[in-house]
Amino acid sequence: MVEPVKGMAPDLPCILYYFFFFLLLPSSLVAQSNGNVTVGDSLTAGDEAALWLSPAEDFAFGFRQLGQKDLYLLAIWYYKIPNKTIIWYANGDSPAPKESTVKLTAELGVVLNNPQGGEIWKSGPVNGEAASGFMNDTGNFLVANENGEKLWQSFDFPTDTLLPTQIMEKNDTGGLSSRLSETNFSRGRFQFRLIGDGNAVLNTINLRTGSPYDAYFWSNTVDSGYQVVFNESGYLYVLRANNEREPLTLGSVVSATENYHRATLNFDGVFVLYSHPKNSSGNERWSVVRTMPENICINVSGKLGTGPCGFNGVCTISPDQRANCSCPQRFLPLDPDDPYGGCKPDFPTQVCTEDVPNAPEDYELVTLTNIDWPESDYEMYTPYNIEDCKKACLQDCFCNVIVFTEGKCWKKKLPLSNGRQDASVNRVSFIKVRNYTLPGPPPIPKENRDPKKNRDGLVLVVSVLLGGSMFFNLVLAGVVSFGLLFSYHNKFTRTPQVERAVQSNLRCFSYKDLVHATNGFKEEVGRGSFGIVYKGLIQIGSGVPVAIKKLHRFAKEIDKEFKTESQTSNAIRGTKGYVAPEWFRSKLITAKVDVYSFGVVLLEIICCRKCVDSEESGERAILTDWAYDCYQAGMMHALVENDEEALDDMEKFERFVMVAVWCIQEDPNLRPTMKMVMLMLEGIIQVDVPPCPSPSTSYTGIIQA
Ligand SMILES: *[C@@H]1O[C@H](CO)[C@@H](O)[C@H](O)[C@H]1NC(C)=O
Ligand SMILES: *[C@@H]1O[C@H](CO)[C@@H](O)[C@H](O)[C@H]1NC(C)=O
Ligand SMILES: *[C@@H]1O[C@H](CO)[C@@H](O)[C@H](O)[C@H]1NC(C)=O
Ligand SMILES: *[C@@H]1O[C@H](CO)[C@@H](O)[C@H](O)[C@H]1NC(C)=O
Ligand SMILES: *[C@@H]1O[C@H](CO)[C@@H](O)[C@H](O)[C@H]1NC(C)=O
Ligand SMILES: *[C@@H]1O[C@H](CO)[C@@H](O)[C@H](O)[C@H]1NC(C)=O
Ligand SMILES: *[C@@H]1O[C@H](CO)[C@@H](O)[C@H](O)[C@H]1NC(C)=O
Ligand SMILES: *[C@@H]1O[C@H](CO)[C@@H](O)[C@H](O)[C@H]1NC(C)=O
Ligand SMILES: *[C@@H]1O[C@H](CO)[C@@H](O)[C@H](O)[C@H]1NC(C)=O
Ligand SMILES: *[C@@H]1O[C@H](CO)[C@@H](O)[C@H](O)[C@H]1NC(C)=O
Repeated sequence: MVEPVKGMAPDLPCILYYFFFFLLLPSSLVAQSNGNVTVGDSLTAGDEAALWLSPAEDFAFGFRQLGQKDLYLLAIWYYKIPNKTIIWYANGDSPAPKESTVKLTAELGVVLNNPQGGEIWKSGPVNGEAASGFMNDTGNFLVANENGEKLWQSFDFPTDTLLPTQIMEKNDTGGLSSRLSETNFSRGRFQFRLIGDGNAVLNTINLRTGSPYDAYFWSNTVDSGYQVVFNESGYLYVLRANNEREPLTLGSVVSATENYHRATLNFDGVFVLYSHPKNSSGNERWSVVRTMPENICINVSGKLGTGPCGFNGVCTISPDQRANCSCPQRFLPLDPDDPYGGCKPDFPTQVCTEDVPNAPEDYELVTLTNIDWPESDYEMYTPYNIEDCKKACLQDCFCNVIVFTEGKCWKKKLPLSNGRQDASVNRVSFIKVRNYTLPGPPPIPKENRDPKKNRDGLVLVVSVLLGGSMFFNLVLAGVVSFGLLFSYHNKFTRTPQVERAVQSNLRCFSYKDLVHATNGFKEEVGRGSFGIVYKGLIQIGSGVPVAIKKLHRFAKEIDKEFKTESQTSNAIRGTKGYVAPEWFRSKLITAKVDVYSFGVVLLEIICCRKCVDSEESGERAILTDWAYDCYQAGMMHALVENDEEALDDMEKFERFVMVAVWCIQEDPNLRPTMKMVMLMLEGIIQVDVPPCPSPSTSYTGIIQA
């Protein structure tokens, strides 16, 4: 609905404004498109119209917004084609905030400053005083002195692209550098250089230091290569000292007067020669003239670095000869938004320590055909058959992967690098995985909560809620009970064997372990809200007595909320201080009451004290409050005091505290499921920052009363 405008005739200043607007706009565009820039000219990030265009408007120099973020890249791009492909950028590693400015100055050449005036990038010390700049139709931006002599040009500092008329000199530390991903312009994992010995090479690098690793393509011009030339007709070649050419463009290319040509080192390590009609109707794409190497997945190798798909990733060559990355079975992308970033197991990997199951039957081998990771070997057996090869890996707690071909068996360890899947890979690989399967990625449920509480973490927490299984509940019951053991002591004491178990990790018990521990769920010691509690004995040291709660039904059914008539205080069952606050209120009672209790017990275990301790002063008396206060204030060390084990691994300790805080949320809906808790404790799922457990009122008073 638009309100009718009251006074229809615009007033005078308004008319003047429009008048000036139309008067200024065309003339400013004309001024920009002769390519000339004079000292003092500037552009502002966020101003769409601020550009320095080349005379024929083939190229633009200015700011490009990065994704949805208010961050900008100072770049040069094709101005006329729909995709506005970027061919050069100044500040890939440090994107500029909105309102940043780029200015041509006499002393420093082109300077990029943030809105506060801090310097983000400059074209470099120019030899002399700059007078003008020029955006050429070749895609080269030049800075010249008042005599028109060249002081600086973007062609001397290529990023990931070479253009016709551009020359690349020998430089062991320079050359082209790929970006990190299609949309992230930070330095990536690949380089194209003309190195000192005269070879033009593609190689991987160490991302942190930039130092080169092994080459995966080379021009075979050792001792003769002198320059890499992209001539004005659109041919790329290595010029030898004797003026002979080693072509990198094979065959002939379309006319460079009617087509754009570029050579780009893509973020996946593939160096591609492209062409694109200048006179674009809008539907044309970049056509591939040549890719180097032919098969990035097969050609990339070397003991160091990750390969195109990241550690543990698997590379398949796509029809356009680019890398297509995936994760092997039971592995997930490290960063869900980056398929090229590598993969992590969806299970805790086997390490040869006692706290992690190491029996052969706890693991199984997943078969992968035509897949190989050529490095990461540590043993080779031959002649060997496939069954003995598999057995050798299952019986070896160091072994994560085996690769078998023609009587040869290689044992490998994580992380794996340069993984590839290709019909030419004549081997069969087996990955060793934990002997259980997690449900697939859970559906994201519809949100019906207070939008203020709508945090990403909660969506995840709630979504996994639906996937609970009997197995996990039992495992968790095991852990809970292990913890409850402590509260049965009058004074908090640590026996050596308990201490070791607690120190080493929270332990995961299989269903079989629990059946064994309880002698087949024989001796009932009590009945709780959702199950029966049994007495058991866990075989640690000389045996540790535990109480194990067996849940009645599957979590799904339990999670169907029901109203209690398991509401007076004498109906409350459970141990004081461990009981969820909804018991004290006329609230729905769900399986989440156990999650609350678990959270309290978890805090007790990791902080080595009781949940309510009247000997402690003031705020310290109630552990749940004290823990959250410490977490909130970033004073985790106050919680652990002098516990060396915890101090050694504060990251893990903090994760445990965060998990516990999620569990003790006053609002049961915010508490994770036990399965979710398990995954968070094991570090399989990231733990989000928990909200304050009792945002409105304090319930601790009720508990104390
Ligand atoms: C652009 O600059 C060049 C030299 O710097 C000069 O010769 C030319 O006249 C300028 N063009 C315009 C339209 O100012
Ligand atoms: C712009 O590029 C053309 C073609 O390579 C070249 O002849 C001309 O000298 C360049 N202009 C400047 C100012 O360098
Ligand atoms: C080599 O390239 C680096 C990085 O672009 C540059 O800083 C350096 O000046 C170049 N060296 C030579 C001799 O051109
Ligand atoms: C690009 O990736 C780097 C490294 O992962 C990251 O630090 C940076 O924030 C990313 N840049 C953008 C604009 O997303
Ligand atoms: C560019 O190189 C190609 C291949 O070497 C050659 O055929 C062509 O004549 C060259 N163009 C120019 C303008 O030198
Ligand atoms: C571009 O296309 C238009 C019409 O389709 C034509 O008149 C013009 O000559 C073309 N220009 C080039 C450089 O091909
Ligand atoms: C533009 O780029 C996107 C992403 O790279 C690509 O999917 C699309 O096909 C391109 N369009 C054209 C016309 O080249
Ligand atoms: C790259 O892989 C292809 C296909 O397997 C092979 O023909 C070629 O020789 C390899 N090139 C290099 C430099 O290893
Ligand atoms: C990548 O591989 C997957 C399956 O391995 C396939 O579904 C997908 O289409 C491939 N993508 C490309 C671009 O080839
Ligand atoms: C592990 O998995 C294999 C294959 O699914 C199965 O045969 C074996 O019984 C499992 N072992 C245990 C202890 O569950």
